[in-house]
Amino acid sequence: MGKFVVQGDTVLEGEVKISGAKNAALPIMAASILCDEEVVLENVPRLQDVFVMKDILLSIGFNVIFDKNTLIVSRAKDISCEVPYELVRKMRASFNVLGPIAARAGKARVALPGGCSIGVRPVDFHLEGLKKLGFSIKVEHGFVEATFEKRVEHATITLPFPSVGATEHLMTTASLLEGTHTIIENAAMEPEIVDLQNFLNAMGGNVKGAGTSRIEVEGVKKMNSVRYRIIPDRIEAGTYLIAIAASGGMGAVKNVIPSHLANPLGKLEQIGADLRIYKDTIEISMEKRPKSVDITTNPYPGFPTDLQPQMMVLLSIANGVSVITENVFKTRFLHVDELKRMGADIEVSGNVAIVRGVKKLSGAPVEGTDLRATAALLIAGIIAEGSTEISNVEHIFRGYENVVEKFENLGARIEYVPGETEKNREN
Ligand code: EPZ
Repeated sequence: MGKFVVQGDTVLEGEVKISGAKNAALPIMAASILCDEEVVLENVPRLQDVFVMKDILLSIGFNVIFDKNTLIVSRAKDISCEVPYELVRKMRASFNVLGPIAARAGKARVALPGGCSIGVRPVDFHLEGLKKLGFSIKVEHGFVEATFEKRVEHATITLPFPSVGATEHLMTTASLLEGTHTIIENAAMEPEIVDLQNFLNAMGGNVKGAGTSRIEVEGVKKMNSVRYRIIPDRIEAGTYLIAIAASGGMGAVKNVIPSHLANPLGKLEQIGADLRIYKDTIEISMEKRPKSVDITTNPYPGFPTDLQPQMMVLLSIANGVSVITENVFKTRFLHVDELKRMGADIEVSGNVAIVRGVKKLSGAPVEGTDLRATAALLIAGIIAEGSTEISNVEHIFRGYENVVEKFENLGARIEYVPGETEKNREN
């Protein structure tokens, strides 16, 4: 695995253009399986996770052309019903092709996703929901087999937790079950779910309620060809806003939908950032030392868990003590030990981290453990005294398009040293 060598003591200034949302593109790519005509997706970010989903679509019989940020998906031959472990292992969201394949072809066999560094990540909500939709489920030898048994006229699925993936998986699958009326209660309300609903309806689906906790789906017989543009990535945008604030700089984050970031923007204001919000641009500056503030992550519209590691870096140099409570992935604190190596004063107990602000972090060799933790370490390296080496840095390419160029345009000094296996990475 490769590394970043980051020079510290950098004040970030300038503009950054936000790419399409990874967490909208992935469920929408899975949903394109429902259509046997051409689907054209625009504003798709060129990220490792998107390349994996592209390989999955290719492996089950679709043609996929990915030209710049436009992805064209068309059915090549009969869909094969099995997705190999080595592809699902690489990216958990690929599990969400199980339902669409089974809805199209009557059955599907997909490897169970593993856990990952941010938590166990079970799929029990997905499987219970698919059973309610008329599928029989068999789990053996690390694979899940879903077979369509009988049409259900009315299905009401109540999620024990507003799971993003389960909500997306079930609303997608239900969309092609003609004659089935599905209600998903306690649904997740993320903007990416609204984007998925808009995509499904653009193909001819009949989905209502995304963005609320109750989604209704009327299954249709067929989906039609569509050209659709993916929304901007609110987590990428939040990452750059936090980085600029943490460096004491000023900048403009463009191509964003500010309303998708209401909660984090409120927190940044409490911390003392000066924000100017326009239709699709957010300007931020931070002259003074950040003030401490408590953060509690929750499903949307709460503070997003995917910005928790990045916000922890900003709070690690704040004036005072901040309490960070992680309610989505209870063990999402692997970045804490790495930040402590850089001089941060953080104590973790269960799903709570107590962050006592220090004046400055100090550069040190650290290790990336997952996508957002590695983004947090990059921010820490940019603002720390001296230089920082981030090993296992490839995690960051899963979720941040052109991340080195975008940060260098803001004044960061980053050298990427690819690992052996990374020399021929697709990008
Ligand atoms: C999505 O993951 C995102 N990934 C994650 O972003 C994000 O952190 C997460 O939602 C929460 O917002 C994509 O959209 C591709 P969940 P997902 O199902 O769907 C439990 C990133 O960095 N759960 O909402 O996997 C689960 O263990 C990634 O871009 C069950 O118990 O998240 C967790 O504690 C990281 N059983 C909670 O629900 C289930 O069947 C929320 O998980 C499903 C989930």
